[in-house]
Amino acid sequence: MIRTVATTPFTDQKMGTAGLRRKSTVATQANYVENFMQSIFNTIGDLKGKTFVVGGDGRYYNDIAIQVIIKMAAANGVSKLIVGQNGFMSTPAGSNIILKNKANGGFILSASHNPGGPSGDFGIKYSNESGGQIPSSVSDRIYQNTLNISEYKICDVSDIDLSKIGTQDLEGMEIEVIDPVKDYVEMMQNIFDFASIRKLFQQGFTMRFDAMNAVTGPYARKIFEEVLGAPKGSVVNYNPLPDFGGLHPDPNMVYAKELVDFMFSDHAADFGAANDGDGDRNMILGKKFFVTPSDSLAILTDNFNLIPAYKNGIYGVAKSAATSTAVSRVAKAHNIGYYEVPTGWKYFVNLMDSKRITFCGEESFGTGSSHIREKDGIWAVLFWLNIIAATGKSVEQITREHWQKYGRSYYVRFDFEGVDTAVADKLMADLENKLPSLENKTFAGFKIEHAGAFVYNDPVDHSSTKNGLIISFADGSRIVYRLSGTGSSGATIRVYLERYSKDNLSADPLKMLTEIFKIAMDISEIPERTGKHQADVVT
Ligand code: G1P
Ligand code: ZN
Repeated sequence: MIRTVATTPFTDQKMGTAGLRRKSTVATQANYVENFMQSIFNTIGDLKGKTFVVGGDGRYYNDIAIQVIIKMAAANGVSKLIVGQNGFMSTPAGSNIILKNKANGGFILSASHNPGGPSGDFGIKYSNESGGQIPSSVSDRIYQNTLNISEYKICDVSDIDLSKIGTQDLEGMEIEVIDPVKDYVEMMQNIFDFASIRKLFQQGFTMRFDAMNAVTGPYARKIFEEVLGAPKGSVVNYNPLPDFGGLHPDPNMVYAKELVDFMFSDHAADFGAANDGDGDRNMILGKKFFVTPSDSLAILTDNFNLIPAYKNGIYGVAKSAATSTAVSRVAKAHNIGYYEVPTGWKYFVNLMDSKRITFCGEESFGTGSSHIREKDGIWAVLFWLNIIAATGKSVEQITREHWQKYGRSYYVRFDFEGVDTAVADKLMADLENKLPSLENKTFAGFKIEHAGAFVYNDPVDHSSTKNGLIISFADGSRIVYRLSGTGSSGATIRVYLERYSKDNLSADPLKMLTEIFKIAMDISEIPERTGKHQADVVT
């Protein structure tokens, strides 16, 4: 039943910040998924005795791709697959299943926060036995394989039934279909104080969780409504749909509009949250109040002792370089380790494995801890609920008191999308050359202290990664420029702006950043070179 099929390489199967991500129209071409998967299997080598976890966020083409992966895994000699029922599994749940079962890795089919459907995006994220996504050294080898591939192996059988929990056999490979929610709920119960959160809801506390028609719906309904007793209807858009019902499942102020409008209305709930397509991103809202992900990381870190799993102490904390420096002041106050890494969760994995950090986060609505090796949307929501239950304070109160204690990092990200790739590459290269000459120069009263590429030297594997350009000003303000590595076409230039204030705590972030924005545009020449005078997305 095992068939060897001749194929020819695709030249665009290089993984980005988080796996392979392509337009559905590209990913659905004949042999596209097959070539990519065979290249991974070839790179791993001997698959005998190996176990992998498979699931996805339910987006368009997942059902077909999962069948391909199962049939190819069996044909290539994999010993066992652990598959989410009906092919569903969130990214954090997948990481947990890999670690819990000591699996050799896993495949989560998702393009994360990108829209789905025939005109949306499709993606495959590949994790290894760490429970986190593979390092660039491995993805480079896989990419080389995709460029030289000439055949793949697949079992010629009818589709596997993934609707029932239990085990079945395919050509000597065991397929175990599991409930993708159960283990995840147990893990959360072991981290947080569920009893006190339950009490909070009993006292009439209200929340709205927007699953954005993506994978977290079943997780959220189980945890918030069934286990914790939040009123029925607290979780909205809970049915995972192949096209996310037309939503762009990116939990931010722009795309989670329905939730944002509700939380800024007069009948808002006490607490609001959203997750992205595959459940690793989160947005936190209070009544008419938005918490930036950078502040959220700082606040969670500052309150670690309120959470049962962390109350005995945490190792340290890390953030991506582009994320605001808010958490650095918390790390200093608690005298714990502090690290800045390139953008992408995989850079946190070594720091967690070597017990250098417990918490980590990114400005892009990602927060997590060493309970797994991916960011975790529901974990962040539960952390906030646990703080609220323990302190009796509102989201706004908690955040404002945090600013009073540490000062406030005003922070906004500007995305310039759909830029011609050659224009974007040249812009970044020219900017990198120009930056050193700007040191010690003053722009509109802001003196540049340091300007250049961000280079990360991993303290564990000693690899070196260059990611983005940073301008640091004498007053603590910063400009970070990077090219996105998760897009499926064209280039996106991200510009991250930050300005710190010790005592001016209630200003409008955009107003606080007006001068810095102008400096960022003047220095980079983004408007002149791209024709864009305004960012496409501001978060
Ligand atoms: C984006 C985010 C980054 C995150 C990644 C995957 O990558 O900026 O923080 O880790 O998505 O969720 P980017 O498109 O910027 O390369
Ligand atoms: Zn995601």
